[in-house]
Amino acid sequence: MNLQTTKKLNNGVEIPMLGLGVFRMEGDDTANVVRWAIETGYTHIDTAKVYGNEVQVGEGIRQSGIAREKLFVTTKLWNEDTRQGKIREGFEGSLASLGLDYIDLYLIHWPADGFEKAWEEMSRIYQEGRVRAIGVSNFHPHHLERIAKVSEIVPAVNQFEMHPYLTQQPLREYCGKQGIASESWSPLGGARGNVLADPVLAEIGQAYGKSPAQVILRWNLQSGVVVIPKTTHKERLIQNASIYDFELSKQDIARIDAMNKNQRFGSDPDNFNF
Ligand code: A2P
Repeated sequence: MNLQTTKKLNNGVEIPMLGLGVFRMEGDDTANVVRWAIETGYTHIDTAKVYGNEVQVGEGIRQSGIAREKLFVTTKLWNEDTRQGKIREGFEGSLASLGLDYIDLYLIHWPADGFEKAWEEMSRIYQEGRVRAIGVSNFHPHHLERIAKVSEIVPAVNQFEMHPYLTQQPLREYCGKQGIASESWSPLGGARGNVLADPVLAEIGQAYGKSPAQVILRWNLQSGVVVIPKTTHKERLIQNASIYDFELSKQDIARIDAMNKNQRFGSDPDNFNF
């Protein structure tokens, strides 16, 4: 495994296992961080319309000079557009903001009312070849079942909150059985969490000479979960990508799995108010 290692999605498209997440990244920082990440060897960038930084993500991509086809760019349909049935408008807006002519992965951001209709329209956009894969985010199995009722296209990805305090094993297993790749957001517990300070992670990391963040990211990779840590610091970008020179033992993977407390730092997909 290395920074370019990919996972094959259910339509054959390859997604890089490690990407840069840009949630809560301020406009001015974003272009620089995206460029640094690409210079470090990241090829996968995850944004969303609601983050308000698609324009800067596009700038960072262009500043890096990398060939478009070497990159994997994800963005997401915002809830307001899902509710109002403005799927095309949402998609075209994101494409224009990013300054790209296709998206690698387009996700329904939350299971807002109207998501089945959104899925049907996204399927058409996919069939037109304007996005290489489509998927969902923050979907419970019962939401995925509702998609399966209206469409033969199985989401390529479900992106959800996952970290050592919310290990999501049942959801990962469910997605695995359906051929849906699991992808974790807030893998380090986000800005509000205290996951990185947990002594178990420090202890595991010590044995490998790695930080708690590196232990968590490696646990994602070895669990087959695509992961998109966010950082605005260059040295952390590099640190978060330096996870290919060690392998967690089965016991250590099990120890991290056992840290689960079903503790969310974000909203529950069954109860969100945005
Ligand atoms: P910063 O951007 O200041 O580096 P998430 O779990 O949502 O990906 O959030 C990661 C949070 O942890 C961010 O607040 C980020 O802050 C911080 N972070 C990212 N990488 C590391 C790291 N290697 N060590 C410590 N903190 C990190």
